[in-house]
Amino acid sequence: MGSATTPARAATVHDAPDPGRPVIEIAAARTHYATPAGPLPVLDGVDLAVRPGEVVAVVGPSGCGKTTLLRVLQGLAPLDSGEVAVHGAAPGGAAETGYVFQQPSLFPWWNVRRNIEFGLKLRARGRRTSAAERRAQADRLLEIVGLTGFHDFRPAALSGGMQQRVNLARALAIDPAVLLLDEPFSAVDTLTRERLQRVLSRTLHALGTAAVIVTHDIREAVFLGDRVAVMSERPGRIVATFTVDHPRPRTEDFQHGEQLAAIAARVYRHLKDGDERAHAEQAAPAADAPHPEKRRAR
Ligand SMILES: Nc1ncnc2c1ncn2[C@@H]1O[C@H](COP(=O)(O)OP(=O)(O)O)[C@@H](O)[C@H]1O
Ligand SMILES: [Mg+2]
Repeated sequence: MGSATTPARAATVHDAPDPGRPVIEIAAARTHYATPAGPLPVLDGVDLAVRPGEVVAVVGPSGCGKTTLLRVLQGLAPLDSGEVAVHGAAPGGAAETGYVFQQPSLFPWWNVRRNIEFGLKLRARGRRTSAAERRAQADRLLEIVGLTGFHDFRPAALSGGMQQRVNLARALAIDPAVLLLDEPFSAVDTLTRERLQRVLSRTLHALGTAAVIVTHDIREAVFLGDRVAVMSERPGRIVATFTVDHPRPRTEDFQHGEQLAAIAARVYRHLKDGDERAHAEQAAPAADAPHPEKRRAR
C-alpha cells in the first residue's frame, strides 16, 4: 500500500487523524434519473468502502450505473436514500475528488506544465503556494508520470497516451482524497494502454492516493485493483468483490502472468453468469412472479 507521507504528496489536510477510516463510504445507495418515460432506477443498494490508499476497480455491464456511481462520489448525483461520504464529509465539499475521463480534457493553448499548474491552483486548501512551489510540484508530477522534459509541449504535440498522462498528473495535482477514473484508457491502443496501466499503478503507489477506477476491461481491473467490485445489471449494486492479493506497484510480469489471468477468469465467469441470468429474465418474464425490481415504484 502506498504511504501517505512520501515527499511527492503536497498537502496534508486529508492525511487524516484517523488513518483507518475509509476515504469512501457508500451504504445502501439508491438513485434514479428522471426521464420522459418516468423515473429510471440506476443504483439500487450500492455498498462500498474504500480504505486510504486502496484502489478499487469497478466492472459491470454497460449501462449498469458505473458512471453514475462516480457522479455520486463527486456530489453530482443526489441519492434517493442511503449514505455517501468522502473523507467523512458529503461529497463535493472540501475533500476533493480528482477525476479522469476517457478523453483527456487539457487546455490546448497551454503547455503541459501550465495545465498541471492549473490543477495546483485549484487546490482549495486555504494554503497559498508560490509560483516556484507550483512549478516544482508540477515537474515532480511530470516525473512521476514519466514525462520529464515535456513541460513546454502543447497537448496537440503529444500522443494520446502522453496526453492522458498529463491529464492524470493534473487530476493528481489537487492532491485529491480519492482519484476517480472513468474508463480512462479505452481510447488508446493496447500497448499504450498497458503502459498507462503501469504508469497509473506506479503513480497511485508513489502518492498513496486511493482510487476508484471504472473499466469494462476485466484484466485492467485486476491489474490495477486491490479489489475488483462487480456490479449487477441496472439498477446496479455491487454483487461481488474479488481481492487481488498482489503487491503494488504492479509490473509487466503480473500484467501477463498466471495470477492475473486466473483472477480475471473468475471475475469474467461472475459477470457472464449475471449477464445470462439477466437475459434469461428478459427473454422469459415470469408471468406469476414478476421481477421485484420491475414492480418497484419510485
Ligand atoms: N442524465 C441522464 N438522464 C437519464 N438517464 C441517464 C442519464 N445518464 C445516464 N442515464 C442512464 O442511466 C443508466 C446508467 O448510466 P451510466 O451510469 O452512464 O452507466 P455505465 O457507466 O455503467 O455504462 C443507463 O441506462 C443510462 O442510459
Ligand atoms: Mg459509463
